Amino acid sequence: MQIFHTIQGLRDALNEARQQGKRIGFVPTMGNLHDAHIELIKNAQQSNDIVVCSIFVNGLQFGLNEDWDKYPRTFEGDCNKLREVGCDFLFHPDDNEMYPNGLDTQTRVICSTMTDVLCGASRPGHFEGVTTVVTKLFNIVQPDEAVFGAKDYQQLAVIRRMVEDLCMPVEITASPIHREPDGLAMSSRNGFLSKDERLKASQLNKSLNWVADQIKAGNRDFIALEEEANRQIEAAGFKPDYVTISNSKTLELAAVDDEHITVLGAMYTSSARLIDNISLN
Ligand code: PAF
Repeated sequence: MQIFHTIQGLRDALNEARQQGKRIGFVPTMGNLHDAHIELIKNAQQSNDIVVCSIFVNGLQFGLNEDWDKYPRTFEGDCNKLREVGCDFLFHPDDNEMYPNGLDTQTRVICSTMTDVLCGASRPGHFEGVTTVVTKLFNIVQPDEAVFGAKDYQQLAVIRRMVEDLCMPVEITASPIHREPDGLAMSSRNGFLSKDERLKASQLNKSLNWVADQIKAGNRDFIALEEEANRQIEAAGFKPDYVTISNSKTLELAAVDDEHITVLGAMYTSSARLIDNISLN
């Protein structure tokens, strides 16, 4: 695996690959790689000749009180996992390479819908940070395809919309959620859970499944379902942020006759905020 710390170095190598007619797949990450990330790489390998992974803990998408400084940086271990799965190129820029003019004056990409609801409501500015860095990374890598995890469903929907609105020539692929045996969605933040919290953390998934089953059985009282799911999460000792039944594409509150519905949820543990979702399409 070749490792690049500069935009120019990566571009030179990718230009050469493109001249040889190679198709480029891209998996952007913030590192601390686990099995779900490796699945993204494998997914990208299926339909591309060269797979590029990026590791960059993007300060622009973290709020002032969030865990940017706490976010685990495990570069050596990440490199080993990427080598093992046969990733071709790793892009690992520093802050100065990505934001040479600083964060405050950085030109930003703003998606005007879907970003102030759900996770966006409790993380103001977060999606603007994501769309900005993903645009920069797309401009640097110029991939044919980019693979994102379906766990971050809102991020995926926002990126799909950005790509459509800005005519970006990249195919966006969603990789299914990778779960622990008890149903907990894999996440870098699971490492922050205490032993006791870890035992109960799959409650988020259980409650979203319960809502999904109710909808499949014909229950369309969405508000009552959301309230009951929040109650279940609270009863397990966690603080629900939201459980929302949404239109899968627009992320607006689902209408009773919507066919494509996604149930999304987020909850706080004492040390992390966990998210999950289930699509009924
Ligand atoms: O999902 C992530 O890890 C990040 O939001 C991403 C897409 C790499 C942008 O920093």
